[in-house]
Amino acid sequence: MADYSHFSDRGRLLHMIYTQQFSREVLGGLFDVAEAARRLYRSRVGASVLRDCLPNRRALLYFVQPSTRTFLSFQAAASILGMPTAQVTSTKTSSEYKGESPADSVRTFAMCHDLIIMRYPEPGFAEECALSFTRSGINKHIINGGSGMDQHPTQALLDVYTLHREFFRRGGIDGKRILVVGDLARGRTVRSLIYLLGLYSGVQVDLVSPESLAVKDDMKQYMSEIGMSFRESRALRDFAGDADAIYMTRIQDEYEKLHPTGKVDYGDFRLTDEILGLLRPDCVILHPLPRRDEIPVSVDADPRSRYWDQVENGMWARVALIAHMLSCDLQIQAA
Ligand code: NCD
Repeated sequence: MADYSHFSDRGRLLHMIYTQQFSREVLGGLFDVAEAARRLYRSRVGASVLRDCLPNRRALLYFVQPSTRTFLSFQAAASILGMPTAQVTSTKTSSEYKGESPADSVRTFAMCHDLIIMRYPEPGFAEECALSFTRSGINKHIINGGSGMDQHPTQALLDVYTLHREFFRRGGIDGKRILVVGDLARGRTVRSLIYLLGLYSGVQVDLVSPESLAVKDDMKQYMSEIGMSFRESRALRDFAGDADAIYMTRIQDEYEKLHPTGKVDYGDFRLTDEILGLLRPDCVILHPLPRRDEIPVSVDADPRSRYWDQVENGMWARVALIAHMLSCDLQIQAA
């Protein structure tokens, strides 16, 4: 397995590029900081403690792929920690339009900012930038906010944080059965989630997708290598009744040009009344959002649905990650 230790320093993450960089210990610490921060934020005094954490640091959001939740929750997380943000969301209005390379743009951001959070269509670009910072002695931080079809580590962080909260009184995530549904070939959140679930013992993953959108071989190889048990099916009803949590995803058709799958009938990969009836009464329903029609709006009122909580959990998970990377986590926990 790849070695990402050069992106950490004595147990502290300097860059968050790949989900595989998380350890169970770091995750546990992040969940504790997220809980401490949300508790503090309930009072004005606590909120000002948080705001005092990073007033002399600045973050740049470089988002050149569409985003609502990731962008806004990072912005909110930075503001909770008192860290001003700036944003570049179009290469039509930045110097890239004049021919500047993306790498030079990122280096420019680093001259005036401490943390660069980027969503970029090409896998590997965030890593390339982090490596070039290391080579050039630039002590600034990078967070991957989504790298094409490859990874979305902070989404996996918030997904697992949500599971951690939901299963807190049910023995934790260890040993749970997670059903993952939809576009498993092109969904980066699915890839990152599987990596993160691999840190827990005895987690079983059930994968349901149309044939042409089945999980890729590299993920199957990963699951086999770490001894994670998984099953696959084309029919949701096969596994619905066994799931402790179900993770729905939308079809990722924005990648259709680059990675065509042809016409796919997505109808069988929806939370229909029949499937809802098969799910256990305590099954947790998740979705990274945005949704299409794989989860009807009526399911929002189902007591098992947690996808809107995920959005809020995402903000606190990102507060915790920024606090960890920029070394104010202990301050939060001590307050
Ligand atoms: C996801 C993404 O961008 O990969 N969205 C998100 O960050 N919450 C999921 C998706 O777009 O389907």
